[in-house]
Amino acid sequence: MDFFNYKQDQLFAEDVNVADIAAQFNTPAYIYSRAAIERHWQAFDTAAGEHPHLVCYAVKANSNLGVLNVMARLGSGFDIVSGGELARVIEAGGDPAKVVFSGVGKTEAEIEYALEAGIYCFNVESEPELDRINKVAAELDKQAPISIRVNPDVDAKTHPYISTGLKANKFGIERERALEVYKYAASLSHLNVQGIDCHIGSQLTEIQPFIDALDKVLALIDELKAAGIAISHLDVGGGLGVTYADEKPPATEEYVAALKAKLTDRADLKLIFEPGRSIMANAGILITKVEFIKNGEEKNFAIVDAAMNDLIRPSLYSAWQNIVPVDASLTREAAVYDVVGPICETGDFLGKDRKLPIAAGDLLAVRSSGAYGFTMASNYNSRVRAVEIMVDGNKPYVVREREQLTDLWKGEQLLP
Ligand code: LLP
Repeated sequence: MDFFNYKQDQLFAEDVNVADIAAQFNTPAYIYSRAAIERHWQAFDTAAGEHPHLVCYAVKANSNLGVLNVMARLGSGFDIVSGGELARVIEAGGDPAKVVFSGVGKTEAEIEYALEAGIYCFNVESEPELDRINKVAAELDKQAPISIRVNPDVDAKTHPYISTGLKANKFGIERERALEVYKYAASLSHLNVQGIDCHIGSQLTEIQPFIDALDKVLALIDELKAAGIAISHLDVGGGLGVTYADEKPPATEEYVAALKAKLTDRADLKLIFEPGRSIMANAGILITKVEFIKNGEEKNFAIVDAAMNDLIRPSLYSAWQNIVPVDASLTREAAVYDVVGPICETGDFLGKDRKLPIAAGDLLAVRSSGAYGFTMASNYNSRVRAVEIMVDGNKPYVVREREQLTDLWKGEQLLP
């Protein structure tokens, strides 16, 4: 269950009528539910229970300050992949000491910023990156806490664009070379080897690939111990899937319990989680208005005021997200539509072949849009980015204003 439900046929976000939000703030608009975010975050924290752990929300899924702040208030850690994400975490009141820094291409400036801020750990993906972090740490006279991302070579069985744990991917260090790379890291003067991490992909709907990866990583921890390298934390990455259509991913409790079952004789090994989608996807919707109905010979189109620049997942990954009328009492005859935006690209669609009882002026909600929605939005076709609203109980709050036209050319200059 999430917090977007019909009451007397009207879609509500918690206790706020979605149509009222549209009337007040216009469309397209992202709407998030604070209660949903909190519930999804707490599912990890509660399931981990007494085992030492840190939930590091993956900022890339949704980096709005209001969203980050809700989690910061719960005591969340954060998984970041850029200096920009670190700045957001700090601005939102997050604790840098609970930040892990992932990503294959950290710049010297980003490493310096993270060291000065005092982050919890760098998740390192290559030997040149070890050298770079060591160099920057030496210049600042600091010790950099590091973990090495191991690529366990397991098939996450998800979309190839979001599968990251195979040898063919650019991520992490191959399992076979991991021991040697750890020894190298341990030999560098300004690195402090602390952890191990892996992340095999996103939108996983089965537990087994996680377990296969965990088994490989635990075996490596034992090898490292034998080689005199002590590992104090294990970062299992993110990747837990959600229900968009009829997927049946394991519940967070089930997933965490399966991991913990492997750690019974490792009570001191701190577990770090990097969930993004499983916290945010179903904590948000995108609402949009039907501008025109266009009936073609082969297809009917519902042309709406949201587009691929607002939500690119359908275009980019052929992702299916449910599209529902905000007013479910509509009694018109339903027809089958491609729900498309106004952008000049054939790939600009939010959904295809959807049966909907709609007419121009009606409101639609694209479900499961809280993760990788706004964060992947752009200004393509010089469209201003949508307003973001967070509902808390019976109150909607603007957590990001709709952009103005002048925002479109902010920082641009004419030649003299
Ligand atoms: N940790 C690392 C190192 C990651 O690369 C990712 C996601 C996460 C954690 C969070 O994974 P999650 O729990 O959200 O699955 N834009 C795509 C998803 C890209 C995921 C990239 N990495 C989409 O819209 O489906």
